[in-house]
Amino acid sequence: TRTHEEEDLPHATKKTMADHLRKYESLFTLTPQRMRMIVEAFKDSLELGLQKPKQVVPMIPTFVFGWPTGQESGDFLALDLGGTNLRVCLVTLQGEGKFEMTQTKYRLTEEQKQDEGTKLFDFCAECLKTFIDTNFTDEDGNSLLKPGELLPLGFTFSYPCYQTRIDHGELIRWTKGFGVKNTEGRDVAEMFRQSIEKYELPVQMTALINDTTGTLIASHYVNPKTKIAVIFGTGCNAAYMEDVKNIEKINDLGISEKDQMAINCEWGAFDSFEHEHLPRTKYDTIVDETSNKPGEQAFEKLISGRYLGEILRLVICELIDEGVLFLGQETYKLETPYVFETAFLSLMESDPTDELLMIIGIFTHFFAVETTLAERQFFRALAMLIGRRAARLSACGIAAIVGKMGYLDEGCLVGADGSLYNKYPGFADRVHEGLIDVFGEKGNNIKTVHAEDGSGVGSAIIAAMTKVRRDAGLY
Ligand code: GLC
Repeated sequence: TRTHEEEDLPHATKKTMADHLRKYESLFTLTPQRMRMIVEAFKDSLELGLQKPKQVVPMIPTFVFGWPTGQESGDFLALDLGGTNLRVCLVTLQGEGKFEMTQTKYRLTEEQKQDEGTKLFDFCAECLKTFIDTNFTDEDGNSLLKPGELLPLGFTFSYPCYQTRIDHGELIRWTKGFGVKNTEGRDVAEMFRQSIEKYELPVQMTALINDTTGTLIASHYVNPKTKIAVIFGTGCNAAYMEDVKNIEKINDLGISEKDQMAINCEWGAFDSFEHEHLPRTKYDTIVDETSNKPGEQAFEKLISGRYLGEILRLVICELIDEGVLFLGQETYKLETPYVFETAFLSLMESDPTDELLMIIGIFTHFFAVETTLAERQFFRALAMLIGRRAARLSACGIAAIVGKMGYLDEGCLVGADGSLYNKYPGFADRVHEGLIDVFGEKGNNIKTVHAEDGSGVGSAIIAAMTKVRRDAGLY
């Protein structure tokens, strides 16, 4: 690794970098007072979404009724189409909140994210076929399934879908940079079912669920104190359990008032279009306007893993243009949108060396530029500001649900999953600090807990719950 003395370089010194940092500190810092204002506006949006159909925060009824008993058992397949990967899982529920799982992951290419809908679902079916062939065949190549046997499958499809039944879902819009054609407005469960038929797979898709709903149910299966689930990954979203009587917009469906139903909030859409409540900087505006869905997912674009690296890259590019950074060096590698991954922010924040050697590595290896120690300290501080803002905004969302549902005094657990939550150093602690800034000491009553593989396990539990309701004639 190359290092060199600050004096040798024609660029940024300690003092100039510290001056710049102050500016970004004021742009990216959220005061407790501002957070409380966001929480109030957030609560109003959640309420509105429950009252009326087609609101900005759609508060989607999921047709997952109530909590699991913890006794659900059996073998289930789960297919999880997330923002980055496609996973096929075989989940064995063992009752008493225990489970085992085997899985195979496939990375989705950028082309697949923009291709035709039928092709995407055919790809899902192909992966599923390979998985079943591998896991349900004996050493001599004979199928382990009985003739005519169908494996129950939960389909975790982590995009906003309007549902009128558990095994149906009309895609409202793609999020997380997806732009697959001829799919928005269509029933994605039906599209996938057609691919399953085309490949003659021995499966029956019994439930279409969101990753947040899966995580909610899976976390509760493991620990019944769970009341809310949040995904902090490529996207950001939450689910919780609501009394049916409070979901005014489905009053006419004749569902028993005594029931409870999980709500997929799709809170990533909070403050979209009008942009009245969130503290957006000019970098956030650029991220939004250059995205494939300008105006949409305003909250998510400030928080999720898909965007944090890009926000930091835009700040760096501004300082390059102003002649503050990398003067006299070739910087074109930093000029491509989305080249600066959010994983680099995690790495920069976790660099344990005084010289910040990991940061040297990132900049020389990926972008072919040399950095001074003052610059590296600045990049690390900038990553901290952007990561911290994301965590504190997430805390506002959690606080809105907690406040609305009145969970503060008795306290609750929040099942959490996703790359940011699992890999970004200090993310969970910053969410907790945020909750304390909103609620004071009582914020300690709300704790996030890592939900192990909620989107796969939850899918299986919901498939099991669905079977019980079906057998009882309730669907
Ligand atoms: C996006 C999707 C949402 C999903 C979240 C986390 O916000 O719209 O459905 O839950 O990402 O994956």
